[in-house]
Amino acid sequence: MNDELVTARTRTKELADRFLQQNNPTGWFEVLYSQAKGDTSQIPWADLRVNPNLSEWLENNQIQAEGKKALVVGCGLGDDAEALSKQGFAVTGFDISASAIAWCKQRFPDSEVNYLVSDALKLEQSWQQSFDFILESYTLQSLPSSTRKQVIETIVEYLAPGGTLLIICRGRNKSEDQGKYPPYPLTKEELAFIETLGLTKVALEDYIDSQTPPVRRFRIKYLKE
Ligand SMILES: C[S@@+](CC[C@H](N)C(=O)[O-])C[C@H]1O[C@@H](n2cnc3c(N)ncnc32)[C@H](O)[C@@H]1O
Repeated sequence: MNDELVTARTRTKELADRFLQQNNPTGWFEVLYSQAKGDTSQIPWADLRVNPNLSEWLENNQIQAEGKKALVVGCGLGDDAEALSKQGFAVTGFDISASAIAWCKQRFPDSEVNYLVSDALKLEQSWQQSFDFILESYTLQSLPSSTRKQVIETIVEYLAPGGTLLIICRGRNKSEDQGKYPPYPLTKEELAFIETLGLTKVALEDYIDSQTPPVRRFRIKYLKE
């Protein structure tokens, strides 16, 4: 990890901590993006490329994208949404941060992705049962456990019958501490909540990724009957 990234991570943790102490678990994202003023080195997760955990999955899974609608939850700076658009999906990418969404539009001026500001803790009624493919990568892990069930319920609500949900997140055992600051690795036990909402888990990969330093990830595919 280079010094710049270490500094950005430390600053982000301090910022998140301030908001978490005020019982405002999502307020810090907009502050982080807006204060960065277009400097991606200030955003610890912004590496300006498709998440390798997604691109690898897309290479290994034949997904039907043509004529289908995809949703990217907490789309950040848009690279994963763009990748799904290239696959042939009609993509909506949403993020709670207006500055992140403006940044996506600036980065990809000719994009076919519909970038929108929306809060996964508030249901968009018009999106209910609308999307054939939903990608949730790294947003659940950036939120405290008190909010995750609600985000999961919203995401599942947006999935159309027959649709696929792909979750990519940090993973830990239940016996391990999640740590004080985000990103919080998730447990399989808490992710089991998704199945209680009627989705079927069809694949769970539990692996160490190729990041430096390496990180334990869960990559889980669910289907909605
Ligand atoms: C750790 S970043 C990951 C961004 C992107 N998915 C990626 O992998 O690069 C988490 C993202 O989720 C967004 N986010 C956090 N809470 C959210 C919420 N309640 N609704 C929508 N987006 C949210 C943040 O603004 C941020 O862009």
